[in-house]
Amino acid sequence: MSKIITPNQESIQEAIRTLRKGGLVALPTETVYGLAADASNPEAIKKIFTAKQRPLGHPLIVHLGDVNQLIKWAIDIPDSAYQLASLFWPGPLTLILKKHPDVSPIITGNQDTIGIRIPSHPVTLAILREGQLAVAAPSANRHCHVSPTIAADVLEELGDQVDLIIDGGPCAVGLESTILNLISAQPEILRPGMITAAQLTEALHTPVAIKEGDSRIRVSGSLKKHYSPQKPVFLLDQADDIELIALRHKKAAVMALTPSPTNWTGEWEVMPANPEDYARLVYGILRKLDRTDADVIFIIIPPTTPSWDAIHDRLKRASTKN
Ligand code: TXA
Ligand code: MG
Repeated sequence: MSKIITPNQESIQEAIRTLRKGGLVALPTETVYGLAADASNPEAIKKIFTAKQRPLGHPLIVHLGDVNQLIKWAIDIPDSAYQLASLFWPGPLTLILKKHPDVSPIITGNQDTIGIRIPSHPVTLAILREGQLAVAAPSANRHCHVSPTIAADVLEELGDQVDLIIDGGPCAVGLESTILNLISAQPEILRPGMITAAQLTEALHTPVAIKEGDSRIRVSGSLKKHYSPQKPVFLLDQADDIELIALRHKKAAVMALTPSPTNWTGEWEVMPANPEDYARLVYGILRKLDRTDADVIFIIIPPTTPSWDAIHDRLKRASTKN
């Protein structure tokens, strides 16, 4: 089994040594846990695809410790990238830029673009900075599963496929980073996250929209089914009659913003009413409900205002059948 280790000076050095040797280290980030390999070592990166059972061709995000490293990984970097970096990095924003010719095509799924971010978790920042490392790191779950937001979930997902798991506590954001394409004529969001279209629009003084439908750029997070528990998940409108559902599904587990009806006997999780707290908890609750003996999970959909966009995106994918 892999080791879960608490972060201290010694374990930070162990993580750096493991990455330099071409090993896989699960690292805490503010969004979700990442499965990291040295981004300059193609052999190490191949192990990520094997461990996650992720099809080759799905590009990985490169995580840097410092914005000065950007020119090693990207070319023709627009001013807007530096502007956004100064506002949102370290933080949950991934920028799609033109890839540097020296970057291994295995990172970018053979595309000429690259996704880059600086994560804000202090332990991972220390590993990247002290080790002078850049790491490629997808979320540390098996392909299409729910992303892990605590170290124990990484162990459950990947078992001994990872050399080391650094326990950085629960992730503060809880949903994957916003992915912003800076290659297109107008910047566009390829995957919504907790940095919103409105924040990016304000920062860039230009409209930033969320891309709908298929993009020519392959984003594994835009496959229909993703972030998905094992049990079937259904989304319900607030208006749906939960008591009728209870009659039909004796073993339903429910995630809602409101308390359960008094005669409810199954699992019922009351979620926070603000999007930040909801996002932080949602994956952990989905895992918890998936471990119960319920045969189905119902989610009463939260509000549809823009600050809930990223949550809606993940709930829709969790409930998609294929
Ligand atoms: O918050 C996050 O972004 C987490 C933490 C660990 O940083 N990482 C993450 O990685 O969610 P992953 O691999 O699970 O999802 C990364 C997404 C994928 O959908 C991938 O297709 C997309 O980023 N991506 C990466 N490089 C890309 C590129 N060059 N063009 C378009 N999409 C890209
Ligand atoms: Mg993922």
